[in-house]
Amino acid sequence: MIQLKFTLNGDRVETWVKGQEMLLDILRDNFNLPGTREGCGLGECGACTVLVNGASVNSCLFPALEVEGKIVETIESLADAGKFHPLQQAFLDNGASQCGFCTPGMIMSAKAFIDSYPGRPAAVSEAEIKQALAGNLCRCTGYFQIIAAVKAAMQEQD
Ligand code: FES
Ligand code: FES
Repeated sequence: MIQLKFTLNGDRVETWVKGQEMLLDILRDNFNLPGTREGCGLGECGACTVLVNGASVNSCLFPALEVEGKIVETIESLADAGKFHPLQQAFLDNGASQCGFCTPGMIMSAKAFIDSYPGRPAAVSEAEIKQALAGNLCRCTGYFQIIAAVKAAMQEQD
């Protein structure tokens, strides 16, 4: 076992990991954060998306040891004192979450996109949102409501 220290959802944390463990496994098993989902386990569905130093990654394929000294954010970090993050509220308002399995990963990919968006958020195009969420699959919504939710959250920011 190897000791690992990093910042998780705003807190400095330490844990012990096996050399081959993936970030997804330690988030769920060592830190009891079940919001990050395991879908394909192959880097194809995006259900396991979290942010590492602000960039979205597929945590099912991201070696846990690579977060040493870094900042990791999961869906559990978004709500503030019981109040939804604007993206969470926009998903709710636009019916963008149905079974909900893809939702945490979608929202984390959307957050990375919004946080690094170079222009005025309200000017975002549907094509840009689609490209940003291309690695996240949803079997329920047909994506229309998800794109609408991200657009609404960005318009609110502007
Ligand atoms: S579970 Fe990680 S990409 Fe599907
Ligand atoms: S809401 Fe069911 S997979 Fe997206």
